[in-house]
Amino acid sequence: MTNKPQSRGEYLLVRNMAESERLEMQFKAWQANIGYLLHPAIKTHDHMRIADVGTGTGLVANPSERRKIWLRELADVLPSTCQLDGFDLSDTMFPSKENISFHHQNLLELFPDEYLGKYDVANVRVMIAALSSNEWEVAVRNIITLLKPGGYLQWVDCAAHEVVVKGVPEGKRATNAQHGIDLIQRTMISAGKTPNLVALCGTFQKSGLESCEERIYTLDNPETRENLTLTVVTGIQHILTAALNLDKLDEMQTIDQIMELKEAILSDLHNVPCYYFFDVHVVVGRKA
Ligand SMILES: C[S@@+](CC[C@H](N)C(=O)[O-])C[C@H]1O[C@@H](n2cnc3c(N)ncnc32)[C@H](O)[C@@H]1O
Repeated sequence: MTNKPQSRGEYLLVRNMAESERLEMQFKAWQANIGYLLHPAIKTHDHMRIADVGTGTGLVANPSERRKIWLRELADVLPSTCQLDGFDLSDTMFPSKENISFHHQNLLELFPDEYLGKYDVANVRVMIAALSSNEWEVAVRNIITLLKPGGYLQWVDCAAHEVVVKGVPEGKRATNAQHGIDLIQRTMISAGKTPNLVALCGTFQKSGLESCEERIYTLDNPETRENLTLTVVTGIQHILTAALNLDKLDEMQTIDQIMELKEAILSDLHNVPCYYFFDVHVVVGRKA
């Protein structure tokens, strides 16, 4: 596989209704395993200001439907005197509520002065398809500028190279399920998306944050296994589609081929049977 030139902040996922639905399912499945919206070290109060950077979802087919995403879920449990700000490159998937505002922002570019030093918490979730390997530290340093002294950076993410196929009965093989994940990993490497999540806590420390801590959650709650696996399958479809659109998919030339692979994976999951499995990392650090 050839390494194609990488653009700064190139997004290796699609932005549409199906992706918004996938993100919502992913959010619920992760939450069922993590159990909190804010790390226990973060003490809440009535006038918190919270930034969610790369905030994402909210796109709904039916406007009366309420999406359960991090920012919206948090708005439901915090007093309405708290102000919650979502930052994203795109508002395609953004939810609305009185004390939630949306701001267009590339997290790799300097935030406007009006936001600097204003936040008790800056939250980031799932940037693996967004940031290239050399952009993680830039992102961390930039997002820290939003924090007040004593404010927390919380980052929740997973690594594509940590996804494994599990549950395959002895004597059987899940060739297609394995191929899907291998292809994703090669595609992400080719596009420069190879986050070393284990290094993220060190990046927090290097960037001047204190009391840094990493918790790793094994997503093994049997009740969420099926949905979690589906988010990976659709994630494979959406990452490959984005790579195809960006001319960064060496091994497939058409959407039909991507859909064929998806069907073959679904068949393995059902017939072998098997499922996808990975860990989620939660990293927090406090600004001095
Ligand atoms: C995988 S989604 C995660 C959304 C949400 N945080 C969640 O947990 O469901 C990544 C989000 O980051 C946004 N994004 C990607 N690159 C970005 C950048 N350079 N600056 C700001 N947002 C970015 C995308 O538009 C997308 O909404």
